[in-house]
Amino acid sequence: MSEKRSSFTGKVGFVMAAAGSAVGLGNIWRFPYLAAKYGGGIFLLVYIIIAVTFGYALMSAEIAIGRKTSLSAIGAFRQLDKRFGFIGYLASVVPIIILPYYSVIGGWVGKYVAAFCTGQAHAAASDGYFTAFTSAPVEPLIWFCVFIGITAVIVLLGVDKGIEKVSKIMMPILVALTLFVAIYTACMPGAWEGVLYYITPDFNKFSATTVLAAMGQLFYSMSLAMGIMITYGSYMKKDVDLESAVSQIEIFDTGIAFLAGLMVIPSVFVFSGGNEEALGQGPGLMFVTLPKVFDNMTGGSFIGAAFFILVLFAALTSSISLMETIVSIFQDKLHVGRKMSCLIVLGICLLLGVPSSLGKGIWNDITIFGMDFFDFCDFISNSVIMPIVAFLTCIFVGYIIKPQALVEEIEGSSAFRRKKLFIVVIKYIAPVCIVLILISSILDTLGIVTI
Ligand code: PHE
Repeated sequence: MSEKRSSFTGKVGFVMAAAGSAVGLGNIWRFPYLAAKYGGGIFLLVYIIIAVTFGYALMSAEIAIGRKTSLSAIGAFRQLDKRFGFIGYLASVVPIIILPYYSVIGGWVGKYVAAFCTGQAHAAASDGYFTAFTSAPVEPLIWFCVFIGITAVIVLLGVDKGIEKVSKIMMPILVALTLFVAIYTACMPGAWEGVLYYITPDFNKFSATTVLAAMGQLFYSMSLAMGIMITYGSYMKKDVDLESAVSQIEIFDTGIAFLAGLMVIPSVFVFSGGNEEALGQGPGLMFVTLPKVFDNMTGGSFIGAAFFILVLFAALTSSISLMETIVSIFQDKLHVGRKMSCLIVLGICLLLGVPSSLGKGIWNDITIFGMDFFDFCDFISNSVIMPIVAFLTCIFVGYIIKPQALVEEIEGSSAFRRKKLFIVVIKYIAPVCIVLILISSILDTLGIVTI
């Protein structure tokens, strides 16, 4: 990646690249199923509050750290204070855990593209199709290998610029199509109840786990707490308005997640009733409900095919940025060439991706703390390591290098209207909240106490 340093020409280039990494399966697949599971409106509300406070402060801090040091995570923390290089290492573990299972879902999307393109749209909408596919021993593995293989080839050939160009055209179409599907779904009989479930907060459903899930999702969706935004910041020119770039990425990312929820959740009400079980399905939600919506539409197989192709592109831009990050870390730390580094990453992905995929099928009964391997990878990265990295980053910025060091960096290019908010969140609110939520939710998950 080093040859790309400071290659973003201006704010638009930076925002587009960062948004390409941020917008992906997290927004379209993960956000709706979490919102459905954690009470709809209350999850949405908590998410938005966290996005404009924690999300804003943390993203500004990470990009500013990167721009100030012109280094990626590991080097950046070390340069600012020798004793804290370990935060960079910890952050770097996250993409390694995420990429394998991310590719499993990428593979699922690939399967749905193929199904919709080969006239199996109706079959894909039938009950049990998704479970039959994901629990089969071989087929999901093949799709997983195809997805990770494409990602690796693009990273290896360095043709990600081409992909990014294509996705710049695809992304706006994806937004338009998502909006169309959301409106279509909302107009179906029974959907309104789902829309209300999604936008009206029910405070009885509030718990520490809701907050932790929303926080994990925020980090995941905005590619925070894993060193990625630090790397992107290191490529950002000094005169690009950092504050407004952060606002734009946040609005874009949250906007797409919101639309995806609006598309998926009401369709759960239309097709499966709004009962707890249907809402709490988890990772399969989008794959189960959307084909039913498409099956109901005139021209639905065409629209469905277009939709899954666009999602596949969004997923690829994200998986490429994940793999690129890991490859460059291994290149630097293990002193190996790019090809070798790519191969090592591919090996790790296969090693962790295969059990993730099988965890949804024949290895379903092999569990860690009650979770299959897929869910465990998701939990340990989003709900444990990322909050810890975020906490350490706040302590590091708030008390070690002091917020002023980054305020100066940001003020170099921006009016920094939300400076006070930045300082208060980084120093006090974020660290306290993260610790409380992390502890209570881990105890809860391990079944020690229920809060
Ligand atoms: N933010 C991406 C998404 O929402 C996932 C991702 C995380 C991508 C980290 C790159 C790096 O899907």
